[in-house]
Amino acid sequence: MDDRFSLRREVDRGPRFAAAVQSGLGAVRKTIPPQYFYDELGSSLFGAICNLPEYYLTRSEEEILIKRGDEIAAALGPVDRLVELGSGSARKTRHLLDRLAPGGLEYVPIDVDVALLQQVGRDLLHEYRKLSVAAAVCDFRRPSRVLRDIVEKGSRTAVLFLGSTIGNLDRGETVAMLRDLRSVLAAGDPLLVGADLRKSKAILEPAYNDILGVTAAFNLNLLQRINRELGGHFDLRAFAHRAFYDEEAGRIEMHLVSLRDQSVRIDDLATAIDFHEGETIHTENSWKYGDDDIEAMGRESGFDLVRRWTDAAGWFGEFLLVAQ
Ligand code: AVJ
Repeated sequence: MDDRFSLRREVDRGPRFAAAVQSGLGAVRKTIPPQYFYDELGSSLFGAICNLPEYYLTRSEEEILIKRGDEIAAALGPVDRLVELGSGSARKTRHLLDRLAPGGLEYVPIDVDVALLQQVGRDLLHEYRKLSVAAAVCDFRRPSRVLRDIVEKGSRTAVLFLGSTIGNLDRGETVAMLRDLRSVLAAGDPLLVGADLRKSKAILEPAYNDILGVTAAFNLNLLQRINRELGGHFDLRAFAHRAFYDEEAGRIEMHLVSLRDQSVRIDDLATAIDFHEGETIHTENSWKYGDDDIEAMGRESGFDLVRRWTDAAGWFGEFLLVAQ
């Protein structure tokens, strides 16, 4: 396409979805990990979620990046490379690229959706003349798998982890991921984390139960994806979307609830999965953070918190960490 664009793939990505479905639906408490939401339709539905009136997260974060963009860019300092974990549509990244890219920059988007990486890469190269894009298809939980070959010694790398994508990981997974990331960074390299903050159920629950049913479609698309890619026989009308806030834990849980007793064949796995009425597939956790959570997890993984910004409502936080 362009000598300013390259795309890497983490090796061994082949049968992952099949393996994840096999083990997740074979367990006593059925689960499917949230990274599998993002096939082409799933990524589009997530883009629509970001525009929903109830889904304040994207707008709150965008408010911070617009109002405090200059401060944030200055605090990141001069960088040679901007890595983004779970880059998606890179909608919010543009606010920072506007400030960081004019002098020349390597942008490294890491995501599981190849088509989206290619499209975003192409769009950004048109918008930013001095940018080069080294995209990588990789699970953001082990970024060193691709960053090892990209990050050069003696250069300065800034990392973005926006949109409360971190909220899909529990505490242990977050620390493991941050340590893995730290292993490819140099002391002083900045990491900007966008995280959704704890707040009342009355605000949180509607964000995951929108009136148009887009979040329900996003959740149910997982079953459609199994039907499409693995020869599944899920009747999508026999499952319902459920999302609720567990206040004590501080997380939203999303589930797909079986509306009747049923057995569902999945041809490619040569198996059938039994559900009883009311049984659920746990498809996502979305953690919400208190004042010191990000700082504590950062410290445990080799990062110091140096600054934090919030939107006017205090709903969303942007945390600047620096590798120790
Ligand atoms: C992309 C993980 C930040 O948890 O809010 C949105 C995904 N799920 N609506 C979130 C999501 C349902 C989203 N993250």
